[in-house]
Amino acid sequence: MRLRFLLNGAVQEVEAHPSRLLLGWLRETAGLTGTKEGCGEGDCGACTVALGDLDEEGALRWRAVNACILFLGQVDGKAVLTVEGVAQGDGTLHPVQQALVQQHASQCGFCTPGFVMTLFTHWWRLGPTDRASLDDLLAGNLCRCTGYRPILDAARAALALPGGDRHRDEAWRIVRQLRAWHDRPPLARGFVAPRNLDALADHLAAHPGALLLAGGTDAGLWVTKDLRDYDHVVHLGEVAELRRIGVADGHLQVGAAATYTDLLPHAQTHWPAFADLLRRLGSELIRNSATLGGNLGSASPIGDTLPVLLALDATLVLRHGERRWTLPVDRFFLDYKRTALPKGGFVERIDLPLPPPDLTLHVTKVAKRFDQDISAVLLATAFRHDGHTIHTARIGIGGMAATPARARSAEARLEGAPLTPATFQGAAAALASEFQPLTDLRASAGYRLEAARAALLQAGAAAMGDEVALPLEPVA
Ligand SMILES: Cc1cc2nc3c(=O)[nH]c(=O)nc-3n(C[C@H](O)[C@H](O)[C@H](O)COP(=O)(O)OP(=O)(O)OC[C@H]3O[C@@H](n4cnc5c(N)ncnc54)[C@H](O)[C@@H]3O)c2cc1C
Ligand code: FES
Ligand code: FES
Repeated sequence: MRLRFLLNGAVQEVEAHPSRLLLGWLRETAGLTGTKEGCGEGDCGACTVALGDLDEEGALRWRAVNACILFLGQVDGKAVLTVEGVAQGDGTLHPVQQALVQQHASQCGFCTPGFVMTLFTHWWRLGPTDRASLDDLLAGNLCRCTGYRPILDAARAALALPGGDRHRDEAWRIVRQLRAWHDRPPLARGFVAPRNLDALADHLAAHPGALLLAGGTDAGLWVTKDLRDYDHVVHLGEVAELRRIGVADGHLQVGAAATYTDLLPHAQTHWPAFADLLRRLGSELIRNSATLGGNLGSASPIGDTLPVLLALDATLVLRHGERRWTLPVDRFFLDYKRTALPKGGFVERIDLPLPPPDLTLHVTKVAKRFDQDISAVLLATAFRHDGHTIHTARIGIGGMAATPARARSAEARLEGAPLTPATFQGAAAALASEFQPLTDLRASAGYRLEAARAALLQAGAAAMGDEVALPLEPVA
């Protein structure tokens, strides 16, 4: 493939293999070794760079991403800023670098370039400096020797320091270049990035063996960890319709390639519990690339958003060549990582019915760490009730079977039943007898059953307006 992008302000024209990743290219080809490799799987943040593109108003937007799992083709027509490009031209440190020095926020320094880049994107958008926002911001950057207190102090101090003017003064140059590239021919050799839905659908139907790539936060690991090579990658991130999110026909319609970062404010408006879950999905770095379509495409039994889509009765708009059809999400998962999509097909859009006033969504993610961890069990419930009777109940569950699933026996116990502790005790018992989860390195089968039952009781307590979970009877 042949691509063009800005690297620290300079135009690059690059010929590379379709599965070349940005980090390897930066370090081995461009000789920019300030960006580090720690884990190679999106966990540690040592490889963080800022990726610049134009937002809907045409203004420059910088987002922190993990270069270790970003396909080089994903930066075509965009701007990349690495730690080497952050200081002023005369070497004067940028405010985030200055603050890290002043607060003694670096020891061995291996993590520091990553922190600089994440903090740079926060500085750029004048982000909030309360503790919760900074915890969210930095969850994807790990430091193993300094400790986080001085780093958090630096994050707060950076916004108050003067300097960094070069980036704001010269943004227009980047905007001008990215606009000029807007109508460039789409990438078409090896790494194919169609610009509209029909071209994408045609190409994919004709090449069903190609790797379909959205954010790459699952697929990037197939390169770094499974050492797979892809000669033919089809990227859907350049199709504007697939990145759109909007309300129509009583639904929030989410383009399959919209990132979680873009979805988050909409989730916050309609389903705060979904937004709380999204804030725990990976890290900001992951959410800046990862998509709902990718979670569906991977179809993992522990994909975090999938039980929520089940609980919310989402409808998928699917596409294969010229054929477009809709499918309720509970008919999408056929078997372990196997879906109803034919080869060469893709998810175009996810439609989430807007919540009626009496709907309460509750989500419990059980994982060993709060941030950036894979679930052992995830339970999402959506109840409609009038304070006395439960009218409808949807329960989506992950980590309990080969696919994300609805807990139908428990739903049946709840619908039409009184909103009482006894009802939820009965439903929790039904749930426990409906699933036979596996024991694996994340949790034992028994733990999963207990956790799922407890999560359902917690959802019941919340529906009854009680913050305290109901007592959990031992499993018979
Ligand atoms: C550090 C880290 C932390 C993570 N944490 C979480 C977590 O907390 N919870 C969680 O659920 N996941 C997590 N993930 C996994 C991943 O981020 C999600 O599954 C994400 O939604 C994948 O989206 P993507 O756009 O990056 O998909 P990609 O990697 O681009 O694609 C994944 C798969 O989906 C297919 N695909 C992509 N788009 C479509 C489409 N529109 N139609 C059909 N198929 C499609 C691709 O062909 C591929 O098979 C994490 C990953 C990393 C690296
Ligand atoms: S090297 Fe660890 S996140 Fe990229
Ligand atoms: S300074 Fe050593 S890992 Fe952060």
